Amino acid sequence: MANENKIQKVLVAGPNGNLGPTILKHLKERNFEVTLLTRNLEKTQQSFPDLRAFAADYDSVEQLQKVLKDDVGKQDALIVLIERNEDQAQINLMDAAIAAGIPHIIPSCFGITSRTPEFRRLPIWNSKCRMEDYVVEKSEAGAFTFTGIQNGSFLDWALEKGVFLNPKGGDPPFMVFDGGDVPFSATLMDDIGKAVAVSLLKVDKFRNKFVNIQSAVITQNQLARYAKELAPDREFKSIPLDTAVLEKAAFERYNAGDTGPDVMYMFMPRVTFGNKLGLFDHVDNEELEVEQMTEAQVKELVGRYI
Ligand SMILES: NC(=O)c1ccc[n+]([C@@H]2O[C@H](COP(=O)([O-])OP(=O)(O)OC[C@H]3O[C@@H](n4cnc5c(N)ncnc54)[C@H](OP(=O)(O)O)[C@@H]3O)[C@@H](O)[C@H]2O)c1
Repeated sequence: MANENKIQKVLVAGPNGNLGPTILKHLKERNFEVTLLTRNLEKTQQSFPDLRAFAADYDSVEQLQKVLKDDVGKQDALIVLIERNEDQAQINLMDAAIAAGIPHIIPSCFGITSRTPEFRRLPIWNSKCRMEDYVVEKSEAGAFTFTGIQNGSFLDWALEKGVFLNPKGGDPPFMVFDGGDVPFSATLMDDIGKAVAVSLLKVDKFRNKFVNIQSAVITQNQLARYAKELAPDREFKSIPLDTAVLEKAAFERYNAGDTGPDVMYMFMPRVTFGNKLGLFDHVDNEELEVEQMTEAQVKELVGRYI
């Protein structure tokens, strides 16, 4: 496909996480000219030896501005992959990008929408909301345009980590939220990489929009059923949990001053399962060239982690 919108030079910040390699693969396949920004230059150069990479100090807008101006040079777009809780680092980077005149940003969204009251009232999402509010505010002021890619849950990552099912069986038991039949959107990391690259090829269609993609709509009970069919002799232990009860317990601890990760993770399933907001009401799969998996493909995927 011809790149009609002239986004050619792309800066990717935070390439050493889960999404970095797949996004870089899809950018390369579509001949974008990629430069990396990282806290860990040595690791980044080892992992991606063919790409230009520069060290970033996300605590300093001045240092970031200097790197963008003196080392990186003019860029057409910035993709931010920085970890969700590091909102100030992302805001500092966006300020430096504005100063450097980078016209388009793909912020580190990659989940579900933050624009609902149900999402915004849970403290676990404070930094994500702050970052996305900043993106919207700056884009409305004309500082840059953005495309927010929303993919629900990472499907393959979640299976590997045992988030919605423990595919190995046994201990630890996996948590089944609100009965296990709540459908939610989930996306393969490779499809996220593709959608990011395609959104840059078709940037004018997606400016100042949050877009949704999904590789599949799944339920926890469906995953557990596949696992039992694929490994009938294995015991898949689970614990039923009510996300309203979890949320209440989390708020009690949070209001008593406990803001640690255990409490934060008790909030996490509430929006997806309790409020049923993990299922997109519309998707942009076709425009972003993401194909939906068949049930047989989802089952085959579960089989890979068993
Ligand atoms: N929907 C889902 O199920 C799901 C699952 C996982 C992640 N996500 C989202 O996807 C995005 C990317 O996540 P990921 O899993 O690929 O990777 P990640 O582990 O969240 O980290 C991505 C990058 O963040 C940078 N980083 C980490 N701590 C930082 C700090 N204190 N200051 C500045 N940069 C820091 C690192 O960059 P360096 O290269 O500089 O080290 C790292 O490579 C995030 O927005 C995350 O919330 C969504």
